[in-house]
Amino acid sequence: MPDAAIVATGLEKAFGKVRALDGVDLTVQPGEVYGFIGPNGAGKSTTIRCLLGILKADAGQAQVFGLDAWQDAVAIHHRLSYVPGDVNLWPNLTGGEVIDLFVRLKKNGDTGYRQELIERFDFDPTKKCGAYSKGNRQKVALIAAFSTDADLYILDEPTSGLDPLMELVFRECVLKVKQEGKTVLLSSHILSEVEHLCDRLSIIRQGRIVDTGSLRQMQHLTRCLVHVEAPAPLDGLGQLPGVHDLQLEPGEARFRLDNAETAAVMAFLASQGVTRLTSTPPTLEELFMSHYEG
Ligand SMILES: Nc1ncnc2c1ncn2[C@@H]1O[C@H](COP(=O)(O)OP(=O)(O)OP(=O)(O)O)[C@@H](O)[C@H]1O
Ligand SMILES: [Mg+2]
Repeated sequence: MPDAAIVATGLEKAFGKVRALDGVDLTVQPGEVYGFIGPNGAGKSTTIRCLLGILKADAGQAQVFGLDAWQDAVAIHHRLSYVPGDVNLWPNLTGGEVIDLFVRLKKNGDTGYRQELIERFDFDPTKKCGAYSKGNRQKVALIAAFSTDADLYILDEPTSGLDPLMELVFRECVLKVKQEGKTVLLSSHILSEVEHLCDRLSIIRQGRIVDTGSLRQMQHLTRCLVHVEAPAPLDGLGQLPGVHDLQLEPGEARFRLDNAETAAVMAFLASQGVTRLTSTPPTLEELFMSHYEG
């Protein structure tokens, strides 16, 4: 097996009394799209900053491409593209100028593809950065990052300011670099945002990795909460595979549903003349609760 793209072992980092990282272990293989999920303040950005050599960990090891994240940061940065969570830009340059600047900093920036991305992200590159909204600042960083041909893309909550249409464009960009065999580390505090893209993921909470695996292995985490109303009795629901935590009341039901069983359960609900259905992905808090109580 080739060298892992990212290996972190026992990373610790404190800010005064705050233990931001309390022994983080993370291994990302080349060619993987890797999800890095955790609630606000869990330590995602701090881990990423250690991997980028922006922060020096108090203890533990961080390696990227087999190189030391702190000592070999310059060599590592030649091969990676980074999109920070809150994008700060030079207020007096236009978006287009900033994108060009970033693309030219990398030897292998692709200006043709840059133009295509500007169009697909429906981005106006002529405005001064000081005038861009949060989502548009995010687009500047994303267009610059995906216009460069890196081996590793580190994306820290890159979709937090994007509307749903732009999120789709973002997904296509990630899938394109994945097809080219590149590695992606994608952080988010919303599991459902990354579950379409990731091969594997780690969940971080209070500076510690609490779970790691493929989505299939973590299937129990992605059960949606379903609420249905139907005139006919829904008693048969409890016998269907994939239905959990069923609460039946006259005319309605709530339950958790394994994604893999969605079709069969929908067919049953349709046969009962369902009149209303809502499906909500689990929040991270729910997910942690079920994880720990279970
Ligand atoms: N420069 C800093 N100085 C002091 N405390 C910090 C600093 N950076 C991070 N922290 C603290 O470290 C902890 C982890 O923060 P971090 O930014 O890594 O979380 P995160 O998982 O990225 O959260 P979010 O989803 O909100 O971006 C938090 O308690 C945060 O307040
Ligand atoms: Mg963060």
